[in-house]
Amino acid sequence: MENIDLDEIISCLRKITKILHDKPKDALRELREISARVDSQVPYRDGHNQRVSRYSLQIGKQLELNEKEMVILETAALLHDFGKICIDEKILIKPTSLTEREKAEIQQHAIKGYYILAGFAEFEQALDGVRTHHERYDGLGYPEGLCEENIPFIGRIIAVADAYDAMTSKRPYRGAKTKEQAAEELKTCSGSQFDPIMVDAFINALNIGAWRKNI
Ligand SMILES: [Fe+2]
Ligand SMILES: [Fe+2]
Repeated sequence: MENIDLDEIISCLRKITKILHDKPKDALRELREISARVDSQVPYRDGHNQRVSRYSLQIGKQLELNEKEMVILETAALLHDFGKICIDEKILIKPTSLTEREKAEIQQHAIKGYYILAGFAEFEQALDGVRTHHERYDGLGYPEGLCEENIPFIGRIIAVADAYDAMTSKRPYRGAKTKEQAAEELKTCSGSQFDPIMVDAFINALNIGAWRKNI
C-alpha cells in the first residue's frame, strides 16, 4: 500500500466531509480506505481501525442504533486513533515498556486527534468518540477524567471495541490473548473501566458471532 502524508490525508478528509451527509455510504467507503492506509504505515497497527470499527458496529447493532447513529459511530471508530500520526513512531513501536513521559506522550493522541479534526464541522459528533475513547467508566481515564454517562456513548462503545482489539493483537512486548481470555477481561473490567451496558452488548455480539463464525 502506498504511503500517505498528512496533507494528502487532510485533503481526502475534506472531500469525504463534503459527501458525508448526502452520500454516507460513499463517504464511509473512502474513509475506510484512508484509515487502512494510515494504519498500514505503522507496524503492529495494521487493520486496527477496521477491526475497532467492526466491533463498534456490532455493539451499535446490539444497542439498536439508527442508521444515522451507525454512520457517526463508524466514522468515529475509523478516526479514533487519528492523533497517533502526531506521536513519535519510535514510541509507538517501542519493544520495551514505556517511561511515564512516553506514556503521557502517547495519551496525547486522543486530544490531538480531536483538535486536528475539529476543523471539520461535519465530523462534530464523531469527534466525541475520538476525544473520549480512553475515558474510563470510573473516571480514571484520560484526557478529561469523565465518568459514567458523562462520557459520550460513542466513546464508551469504542473503549470496549478498542480494548478487545488491543488484547487480541500481538504487541512487540507481549503476545495476544485468545478471544475467550479477552472477553473474560472485559467482563472483569465491566463497571470499572467499561460501561457494563457496552460490555454486555459486545459479549452478546461475540456469542452471536461465534455461532455464525463471523467475529
Ligand atoms: Fe486510542
Ligand atoms: Fe485504538
